[in-house]
Formats: sequence, structure tokens, C-alpha cells
Amino acid sequence: MFLLDVLGHPVWAVSAALLAIVVRLQRRARWDPRACSARLAGKTAIVTGANTGIGKFIALDFARRGARVILACRSEARGSAALKEIREKTRNPDVHLRLVDLSSLDSVREFAKGILEEEKALHILVNNAAVSGLPRQITKDGLDMSFATNVLGPFLLTNLLLDLIKRSAPARIVTVSSMNHKKGEVDFAHFRGENLTYFMDKVYNNTKLHNIICTNELARRLQGTDVTANSVHPGVVMTEVMRYYPFVIRCLFNLIGFFFFKSPEEGAVSSIYCAVSEEMEGITGKYIDSDCSLLLPAPLARDAALAVKDFEMCERLTSKL
Ligand SMILES: NC(=O)c1ccc[n+]([C@@H]2O[C@H](COP(=O)([O-])OP(=O)(O)OC[C@H]3O[C@@H](n4cnc5c(N)ncnc54)[C@H](OP(=O)(O)O)[C@@H]3O)[C@@H](O)[C@H]2O)c1
Repeated sequence: MFLLDVLGHPVWAVSAALLAIVVRLQRRARWDPRACSARLAGKTAIVTGANTGIGKFIALDFARRGARVILACRSEARGSAALKEIREKTRNPDVHLRLVDLSSLDSVREFAKGILEEEKALHILVNNAAVSGLPRQITKDGLDMSFATNVLGPFLLTNLLLDLIKRSAPARIVTVSSMNHKKGEVDFAHFRGENLTYFMDKVYNNTKLHNIICTNELARRLQGTDVTANSVHPGVVMTEVMRYYPFVIRCLFNLIGFFFFKSPEEGAVSSIYCAVSEEMEGITGKYIDSDCSLLLPAPLARDAALAVKDFEMCERLTSKL
């Protein structure tokens, strides 16, 4: 009762409200997509995981700017709901749903084949979809499910679409990583589900580190093509990202997040910044923080020799041999 009395006291209530306001103001990005007049008419963009969370707001922004937008989603029902919402909100009829399960290499190949048949150009690819907190599962390709979804599926997708992207230059590839990459480790056995600790976000952190490593190596290989490749941290964002965590953890995340975390719309800002802003023209191989500033990623993500090995490992794991 005493605790309730203390917490219920107006001073605490006002302090908490003020703290929440200060945190909200501080987490604002330096760049405001609404103040950016960049138009995307005549441009084509693909956003993976565009049916919910951060991806939906990235796709919504591109559609508002007049782009032809392809929502790359794994669920027909959830994807169709997002498609309807985005078309209604933006009055852009050139928004389309294409199905892909990034955890399956065959599904990624099928999706890419369809895109190559249907699209004449691809100017923006946002590798946004990811999972966190999954228990151990090995895919039919013999890969750890989280690694397949977060790293190898997007890696294969990007590489299969790369010629089209190059032909469409100037073009931009954006990979949504996370500040959690700093807690990640590299062990090539992880890809196949070996030596992994399936506890909370441990596997996820490793995958987010690989996202930056592979993106940096891709950027190096793309030098001189007018195609850029960058990674971003979206911030800590109230989305469905915790859906595979225990109930108690989810409740805590939602409770704290209600006051202090970014909304999905705010979480989309750093990705949109990378994809459309004039400031990011020609900038490649960088890691962008949630406030849209350039940030040095963890030392492992800056190890050029490791990046070459990692990229080659991903090539081998996604090849048909
Ligand atoms: N939220 C955060 O605090 C936070 C922080 C740092 C980084 N991030 C990153 O932000 C990105 C977006 O996450 P979010 O927070 O928006 O999460 P989310 O709300 O859980 O959305 C994830 C999206 O990925 C899709 N997806 C998952 N597995 C897939 C698969 N196998 N094939 C195709 N699509 C798949 C989901 O589709 P379904 O809805 O059909 O499952 C959903 O559309 C992720 O890369 C995440 O790592 C998020």
C-alpha cells in the first residue's frame, strides 16, 4: 500500500510524464521525412516484411512519394491487409504484393525470378524483414531458421536482383540491422545452427552483425556502379519484433515501450533517410544510427578480411551446388 501511495503521488506521476516527454523529444531523428521533398515517381522499390512494423511505414513513405512499391511479405492475408491500407492512405494504385518466405532459399529464388520477369528496373531494395527470439529450428536447406531469415535469405535475394539494380543505377540497397549487432559474434558454424545459444536475443544479435558485415562487403564490391549499400539501426521500436519471446518479457517490453520506445513510423525514419535523402546520395558502406547520423559499427563489422570471408561463406551457403 505504501508503495502504491508513493507511486500514486502527483509528484511521481508528473515526473514520469515529464521524463516520457523528454525521452520522446530526444529520440526524434535529426531528419524529418515529411520535410524531405524527394519524389520517387518512375522509381521501383521493394520492401521486405512490409506488412507490419517498421517495414509497413517504409513502404507507406515510398508510396506517398509516388514510387511503384512491391511489398515482399510471407503471409498473403497480412500482406493483402497492408496493401489495402497503403493504397487507401496514399491513393497510389502502383503498390503490389508479392509473396516470399525469406527462410526458404527456393522461395527467395522463386520471388526473384518473378521480379526479374515483371520489373524493368529496381531502384531501392530495403532488406527489412527479420525474426528474433526463435527457438532452434533447422530449415530444409540445413540452415538455422533465424540465420536463414535474417541473413541468408536477404543475401540471396539481393544477389539475385543485383544485375537489375545495377542496370537501374543510381540505386540504393538498405539493410535494417540493429545496435544489438555490438553484442553479436561471428562463428561460421552458426549458419547451420551449431555452437549457438538459443536464449533471448543471442542468435538475433549474431545475425544483425552479419547484416552489417555483408552489406559493407557488398558496398565494396559495388564501388563504381552508382549502387550504394548501407545498414541502419531503426531505434528501439514498438513493433511485433518480440512475438517469439515469453509472455512476461513481451508484457515488460510493451509496458516500457509504451512510454519510451519509438513508434513504427519513427522507427522507419533512418531507413527512409538512407533510401531517399539527398544527403545519402553516393554514400555507401556506412552504418546509420536511428537519428540518421553516421556511426561506426562494432570492430568486427569493420574487419575487411572477415567481411570477404563472410560474404564468400554466404555465397557458398546460398549457391545451388
Ligand atoms: N523493433 C525494434 O526495436 C528493432 C530494433 C532494432 C532493429 N530492428 C529491425 O527492424 C526490422 C523490422 O522489424 P520490426 O521491429 O518491424 O519487426 P516485426 O514487426 O516483427 O516485423 C517483421 C516483419 O518481417 C516479416 N518476416 C518475418 N519472417 C519472415 C520470413 N521468413 N519471410 C518474409 N518475411 C518475414 C514479418 O512478416 P509476418 O508479419 O508475416 O511475420 C514482418 O512483416 C528487423 O530487421 C529488425 O531486426 C527492430
